[in-house]
Amino acid sequence: MSYSGIDEFSLTDDAPKGGLKRQEYFINKLRLYMEEYKATKGRSLTYSVETFGCQMNFHDSERLEGILLAIGYEKAPTETADLIIFNTCTVRENANLKLYGHLGTLKKRKLSSPDMMIGICGCMMQEKDVIENIRNKYKYVDLVFGTFNFHKLAELIYKRIEEGKQIIEIEKEAGEHVEALPTERKYSFKSGLNIMYGCNNFCTFCIVPYVRGRERSRTPEDILEEARRLSKDGVKEIMLLGQNVNSYGVNFIADSAIISADPEYGFPELLADICRIDGIERVRFMTSHPKDLSDKLIKVIAENSKICKSIHLPVQSGSTKLLAKMNRKYTREQYISLLKKIKNEIPDVSVTTDIIVGFPGETEEDFEETLSLVKECEYDQAFTFIYSKRTGTPAASYPDQISDDVIKERFDRLLKVVNETTKERVGRFLGRTLPVLVEESNKELSDYVTGKTEYGTTVHFKGDKDMIGEIVPVIMKEHKGFYYMGEAVRG
Ligand code: SAH
Ligand code: SF4
Ligand code: F3S
Repeated sequence: MSYSGIDEFSLTDDAPKGGLKRQEYFINKLRLYMEEYKATKGRSLTYSVETFGCQMNFHDSERLEGILLAIGYEKAPTETADLIIFNTCTVRENANLKLYGHLGTLKKRKLSSPDMMIGICGCMMQEKDVIENIRNKYKYVDLVFGTFNFHKLAELIYKRIEEGKQIIEIEKEAGEHVEALPTERKYSFKSGLNIMYGCNNFCTFCIVPYVRGRERSRTPEDILEEARRLSKDGVKEIMLLGQNVNSYGVNFIADSAIISADPEYGFPELLADICRIDGIERVRFMTSHPKDLSDKLIKVIAENSKICKSIHLPVQSGSTKLLAKMNRKYTREQYISLLKKIKNEIPDVSVTTDIIVGFPGETEEDFEETLSLVKECEYDQAFTFIYSKRTGTPAASYPDQISDDVIKERFDRLLKVVNETTKERVGRFLGRTLPVLVEESNKELSDYVTGKTEYGTTVHFKGDKDMIGEIVPVIMKEHKGFYYMGEAVRG
């Protein structure tokens, strides 16, 4: 963006020192800039946000979009947008490589379009060697920021325009938390809600604690206030987000400081309080770490009709020996008995999981233990990943790395068992009538809509777009493996 009229309409006061006020100040400055741009060029600038990674990143992107829309940017496809932001993930190396591919594709257009800006943010930017690489080889990238300061997007865009050069601002750890900026939700009727940030678990394969910082929970007041606001705004389903929601409340963020916890108030209490909010009809959460999923939590889930009976409980491996090397802090037996308890206490509960194949030192016997665990646990879904070496994590320097062809062979065998067992498990709903939250028009069949049961099962059925955002009873007519074809029950 080489437009240079900014000084003529600067806000006259100095920028507030920090927090929400400071960001609102920069949003306002850029609004004026945008108005001027529009008057001169006859159109607004456009944006596109491309997101990789987990639900948290997708939720962060909704917040980035909220800021951009407040400035006056209009949404456009990546191919034509003036401002393109990549919100990156670095949990596995292939997520990482994708970014460089995208940047390469955009280079030509960027160099010939003076109004164009490229921004990159998210987890990958918290790695030192990535920043060095971008500084040296991707000079045409305008904005680089990380996971701890993405709320400063407006300030950074402003700075880029003022200084006319690449802006790289990465903070090493969490500083201020600014929550109340505008958010653009992808769906009007459902929303993510961060209840905590960071992770303290340091599983030996995982980079998340290094790029998202130490665990910190938002206060119940703050979370409940946001949930009430979402409900007033038409949200029916809330997904509570955290790397390990079961350890919610170990410490709290208050005015950018960390205060110690209330031992009486943890995740079960928070869940119960959220369910008391009128208008919120469904509550989901992710992710649960098996090491601290308490009996109290199981009871709250079982007793509360608003809490979806669906738990994501990553196991990672079926071998106790590998679980110890991964620093997961549970054994195979403890995991299986926890899962059995959950299934006993919560009828029909859907359990999903994550599994890593080829962790260093994984023998054929270890792998077979994973296969047998998958058979025993009867998951509704299992996300399978090939182990990816992440620089800086302990497992990256373990000497006994597994060869690619052994991993590939195991991965295919695991996928087969996962497909067979999940298909069978998902089949338990055949012929039953279940409430379905309609999410969108069907992409392939006209006159059809697609929605989800509380168990997370996808159902396609005849309906029109007026149903989107409604919860309707649907008969699960045909079991198609991972999803159902259904029929709405007319009341
Ligand atoms: N906090 C969540 C997981 C976050 S990362 C939990 O504890 O379960 C999501 C998933 O990515 C993990 O469950 C794990 O299965 C996978 N993953 C993380 N690091 C990985 C790595 N280095 N290689 C392959 N998969 C990995
Ligand atoms: Fe990574 Fe483990 Fe933390 Fe999950 S709990 S984010 S896998 S370190
Ligand atoms: Fe990826 Fe960051 Fe999520 S590394 S999985 S986007 S927390």
